[in-house]
Amino acid sequence: MKLNPETILKRRPYLRLVLNSSDEVQVSVESKTIKCGLHALVILELFSRPLSVADAIRQLGARYAAQGERVAAIATLFRLQEGGALRDVSARDEATGAAHDPNAPHDSSGDETVENLTGDESDENLASDEIYFECALDDTTRDLIPYRERDAGADRQTPTLDALTLNPRASLQTGDEPPAHLSARLPFLDRFSPRRPLVWVETAGTETLAPYWLTREQARVVEQLGAGTIAPAGLDSDVAARLAEAEILIAPDEDAARADAWQHTCEDLRRGLQTDQYAVLRKIIHPLQLAALRRYFRALDERGHLKASSNKHYAHRRRSVYDEETARFVQHQINALVNRITPAPVRPSHSQVSVYQPGAFLRRHKDQPQYVWNLSLVLDAAPELEEASAWPICVEVEGQTREVRLEIGDAVLYRGAEFTHWRDVLPDGQSVTLLFCFFSPADAQT
Ligand SMILES: [Fe+2]
Repeated sequence: MKLNPETILKRRPYLRLVLNSSDEVQVSVESKTIKCGLHALVILELFSRPLSVADAIRQLGARYAAQGERVAAIATLFRLQEGGALRDVSARDEATGAAHDPNAPHDSSGDETVENLTGDESDENLASDEIYFECALDDTTRDLIPYRERDAGADRQTPTLDALTLNPRASLQTGDEPPAHLSARLPFLDRFSPRRPLVWVETAGTETLAPYWLTREQARVVEQLGAGTIAPAGLDSDVAARLAEAEILIAPDEDAARADAWQHTCEDLRRGLQTDQYAVLRKIIHPLQLAALRRYFRALDERGHLKASSNKHYAHRRRSVYDEETARFVQHQINALVNRITPAPVRPSHSQVSVYQPGAFLRRHKDQPQYVWNLSLVLDAAPELEEASAWPICVEVEGQTREVRLEIGDAVLYRGAEFTHWRDVLPDGQSVTLLFCFFSPADAQT
């Protein structure tokens, strides 16, 4: 492919990096390996967001004062591009209509409006060989919403429209970058669908941020609600129902009530953690987000991104992916909630998504000492079972075996490095997907 200064490149997802003792960086793209110097780390970081070749060369020039180093870094850039570690996303930017200013690639584009967005909304804009995370509000498939939430939704009375208001914690994003006031809280977005617009919704009480992809029409409605030019009472009932389901529209007292409920829940969990040594967190992911996560990780698994465990004696019939971008996003969002429960602040250190197949088991073990806290979240299960029948994780506390059973969207928080834990054989006909979020003390060096 011919490169020119205006070509926009972006780091390819799922790269494997190995740094050896002679400061050689090996970058593996599928079956190909590119050998580079340490410049490769700087360059891959630069291209974590779309960036023009000209801007990248300018930034490398500013970073490396010595001419020899500068030349070597630029040569590495071209080697990474030729090897497939950086790919041309110029065409995608045009196709999605996402305005891209090559002179200011890191600037927030939050000043774009829905009206300025042009181009096709369809999935044809997405590269066919790629898997993106997307929780689309116009998605009418409900089969991956956990059954307990589907049942609850069917029983729930739709509030009258004039009793709803725009959630003050909802923030519209129309361009490439999240709104500036949220950007520091939104790392790990590389696998998010480039389709725009979307809206970020913060849950009162957990402070987690959840993205919802909107149609142009839905975004226009959110924009007009924010501007006060229309009121919820004037909305089409189907549009309002979808916005309400994603908590973009809420009842006026809902925010305070939810914050209050989580406050009590966290106090209970904190106390429970002291006495039981583990805490069970229920329904920590919004059902629409869970459905999207289930779809995303199923697709990753079907395309072979989850690999069989190398130690079958320890973890049998299990496929895993480590530090996957969207898993890290989820872990990062959960961090604030975990910090309200643990006795001392923690930070995310490592994540793992594992699919357990029928016959799977996990032998008795403790986690590595640096991973002080483990939050194991059930992302998916087939079939979906009620709590009483769910596959338990066993934790040994003071010589007693505690069985913890979780439904999809529930998690258990415990000191995995201190307490022995395991899972007995998963019965035939069942599979379970878990997201393990490991946390280290906030002040830990590693
Ligand atoms: Fe473990």
